[in-house]
Amino acid sequence: MRRNRFITLEGLDGAGKTTHLEWLAADLKARGLEVCMTREPGGTPTGEALRALLLHPQQSLHAETETLLMFAARREHLEKVILPALDAGEWVLCDRFTDATFAYQGGGSGVAWEKIAALESWVQRGFQPDLTLYFDIEPENARSRMTAVRQPDRFEQEREAFHRAVRAAYLRRAAEHPERIRVIDSNRSIPEIRLHLRGILQTLF
Ligand code: TYD
Repeated sequence: MRRNRFITLEGLDGAGKTTHLEWLAADLKARGLEVCMTREPGGTPTGEALRALLLHPQQSLHAETETLLMFAARREHLEKVILPALDAGEWVLCDRFTDATFAYQGGGSGVAWEKIAALESWVQRGFQPDLTLYFDIEPENARSRMTAVRQPDRFEQEREAFHRAVRAAYLRRAAEHPERIRVIDSNRSIPEIRLHLRGILQTLF
């Protein structure tokens, strides 16, 4: 039985997931573990090229095209990065994964849940993260944190109703996968969230 884990982080843009990802990576490294940090869409040269295409503010793609490209990038990412790193005994921390496709393309853009589920089975063949940390925040809070920092990308520019639907879809996924997906209330302070994360991490060792 392998001891390393595949952990994904999810949340609305501005939920603070990147801050927590860096902290988590530092915590695991301090325990002497090998850590592979990666992200989706992206993680491979082809995946990063697809990321540029997907997040380009001027580009308008059909939601199903977006979904297919997300899974194309994911297949490459699994084969070239995630599975080899896990085989080598590394802990893999991934900034977004398939739950994001259910949330953004499914909940946000209305792609049928079953179509995404079919691609998930095809591309992942039953493979799932060991743990998913979903940073839950009200869309209004996420937006106020985000806009101050940098220029929003195309997805970030979408309207508030979209973000509410994305959040609802994340919560639906969490309800469907209660063992894997842990909901972190991200309206709290960073120290409070870290305490919660420490408790969850303890269960992995
Ligand atoms: P994000 O990790 O938030 O990048 P950044 O920190 O640079 O904003 O993700 C980029 C966007 O991609 C985000 O708005 C959500 C979107 N996305 C999807 O719509 N579907 C997916 O399957 C994935 C992985 C991401």
